[in-house]
Amino acid sequence: MEKKWWHGKVAYQIYPKSFLDSNNDGIGDLGGIIQKLDYLHDLGIEILWLSPIYPSPFYDQGYDIKDYYDIDPTFGTMQDFDLLLEKAKKLNIKIVMDLVLNHCSIEHIWFKKACLDVNLKEASYFYIREGKNGQPPNNQRACFGGSVWDKLPNHDNLYYAHFFTKEQPDLNWFNADLRAEMYKIVNFWLDKGVSGFRIDAIMCIAKDPNFPMYESDSEDGTCSHLRMNKENIKVAYDFIRDLRDNTFKKHKDSIAIAEAFGVLDEDLSIFIGDDGLFDCIFDFSAREAVASYHSFYGYKMLSVKEYKDAIFSMQKRSNNTGFVCPLFENHDEPRGVSTYLPKAWQNDIGAKALALITLFLRGMPFLFQGSEIGMQNTKFESIDEFDDILSKNEYKNSLEHGLTKELALDILNVHARDHGRTPMLWDDSEYAAFSTHKPWMKVSSFKDKINVKAQLEDKNSILNFYKTLIALKKDERFNSCLTYGDFVEIESRSDDTIAYKREGSYIDIYVIANLGLSDISYTFDFNFDIIISNDLSLVLKDKNTLYIKRGGALAFVHKK
Ligand code: NOJ
Repeated sequence: MEKKWWHGKVAYQIYPKSFLDSNNDGIGDLGGIIQKLDYLHDLGIEILWLSPIYPSPFYDQGYDIKDYYDIDPTFGTMQDFDLLLEKAKKLNIKIVMDLVLNHCSIEHIWFKKACLDVNLKEASYFYIREGKNGQPPNNQRACFGGSVWDKLPNHDNLYYAHFFTKEQPDLNWFNADLRAEMYKIVNFWLDKGVSGFRIDAIMCIAKDPNFPMYESDSEDGTCSHLRMNKENIKVAYDFIRDLRDNTFKKHKDSIAIAEAFGVLDEDLSIFIGDDGLFDCIFDFSAREAVASYHSFYGYKMLSVKEYKDAIFSMQKRSNNTGFVCPLFENHDEPRGVSTYLPKAWQNDIGAKALALITLFLRGMPFLFQGSEIGMQNTKFESIDEFDDILSKNEYKNSLEHGLTKELALDILNVHARDHGRTPMLWDDSEYAAFSTHKPWMKVSSFKDKINVKAQLEDKNSILNFYKTLIALKKDERFNSCLTYGDFVEIESRSDDTIAYKREGSYIDIYVIANLGLSDISYTFDFNFDIIISNDLSLVLKDKNTLYIKRGGALAFVHKK
């Protein structure tokens, strides 16, 4: 495999609205990110992905872009952004932007022009179709619920397609002029000095421009838009290849990380690897196992074994192909500690175990702001405390399906995207030192127990555990094995054990976590040295035997 600058590094996602507010308007901004660069550097972070900071009306929190060439004033100015790039560079931190290619905003000038006159060139940048007998052109369901079609303003029987909210009109990738516009955007930012992009919802550009009717997969007669995307995925490959050749390939050291759901085994080598469409893709296998139904109320909580099987299957699939990005949370997901750990381990012990399991997997792990202190789901008391459009739709949907208000709220308290969007907990003051002004989102009451200030002062904190883990990944004794070593599953001692090794040329590194309620032990026929454990009192080594108490997790090295 060709060596790349990002191999072996740990990345960190910032959700700018909720990271740190430097001008005290209750909303996070670029000034806040700049202030915390040293903190991130000390943590060992070398790549920062910023969720969208472009001008937007924020119907979908910035994933509805109205100008791809500027910074939204809420976050600051282009000068602030340049300063961020400059300061990050001094600390050897690379900046990765978000790239939303499937759709823009209803406030984008292209869409405004399309609404004015469908004969204008910009109208062909969208999917505009005639309705059928007073109904939308077909029966596809949008990602956040409802039809993918809405009436084109100023027109009687014309509809435009949007696979997400109605404020996010989909862009027509079959149009060569549109494609050229998108390449220009990518090159603008790469020329400016960003190191690459996280590419949003890329599978959605795979469309059938005929928009046929689909066999329904829901009681309301609709069919998820995903079906069209899956059936037309080959079309997207051509578009992405062309995008890559006209942008990323020309900027030799850039990185393209895709948000790609549902990649089939046989297609993985098309996505990643030396000749992949992308450098890497996020591993959403655990998320996909949870979100196995089209509404939150049908989602499934995973057992430890199911979680393990999901992440291990992707590790095995990608071993000989390329790199994925292991992660357990992001701005679209509830907190990993609250989602993937059994109740008994939704604490410091479990958070450290999850960190170890994730960071030593093969690939480029992504932390999401707050992962490093073990942030958990916030308790929302009423539907009014939620901000996300998806949460509001899901709540409505639950009520329409006969669930009580209490149950509908409980479901959001488990699955809502808002959990990843509450302000970062910097200390235990009223607004957690995120801002001096009332923040745009509820501050988690966990701030009293879980916050950066307290954890910086405690040498046994989750935060300091992450620092040690990242330092171990960079340690020259282990770096090559943890970067390039194959992933191999190790036999479990129970359904609640997660155990694997990374096979290097000279050493193997083993990771074992006991997330059950009983103690376990392993005896090996070789000597080994423990390099880290989540709690010294939970792990005991006697010659070649390991005793791992309930909750214990460790990594050890075997010199070959
Ligand atoms: C994926 C993004 O991560 C999510 O936040 C957004 O709502 C959709 N794509 C639409 O852009």
